[in-house]
Amino acid sequence: MKKLLFYVIRTLSVFLLLSVTVVPSWVYAHGGATGVVKERMDAMSAMGDAMEIMGDMVKGKRPFESSAFLEGAKAVIDHSAKITVLFPEGSLSAKSEALPKLWTEWDQFVVMVKRTEKEADKLAALAENGSDSRALKKQFVKLGKSCKSCHTDYRKKKKEEH
Ligand code: HEC
Repeated sequence: MKKLLFYVIRTLSVFLLLSVTVVPSWVYAHGGATGVVKERMDAMSAMGDAMEIMGDMVKGKRPFESSAFLEGAKAVIDHSAKITVLFPEGSLSAKSEALPKLWTEWDQFVVMVKRTEKEADKLAALAENGSDSRALKKQFVKLGKSCKSCHTDYRKKKKEEH
């Protein structure tokens, strides 16, 4: 019993130690952004990376592989599923490119997140079912449009990535 307690305490303290040393890493700047703004930039960047890989296949710069489309679509699904949580009301900072009207038009913002998730779902299904490259490309373009329409409405126009 005593041994078990010792084990629990030791595990807990290791955990605490880890959380103390691990937590500050997201507090540090990513282009100067911190906290939830940095978290959502990271999530967006991860989606951007996935789109870039798929875009390269569409453009013929990279060999076409449906498994890479499945992977990319899944990355977008995973990240878009948690996007709304990363935009708590009023979370703006100097580094953020988010337009504050997204909170007054929140329902529309959420619709756009859901649309992205749905288009990525469709892309994943197509890739999984062994669809041909034409079908995958077409769905990829639709997915890209869902990213872009939200950026047009709710992101400052500085650097145009998508
Ligand atoms: C519902 C709205 C919405 C959707 C959908 C959306 N984005 Fe974004 N995205 C934003 C907003 C708002 C920002 C700015 C966030 C900030 O700076 O606080 C952003 C920022 C970004 C950035 C810049 C990140 C950085 O490091 O500054 C990239 C890259 C990006 N999005 C890619 C994508 C891709 C790829 C998709 C689609 C798969 C997508 N986004 C879908 C709203 C959206």
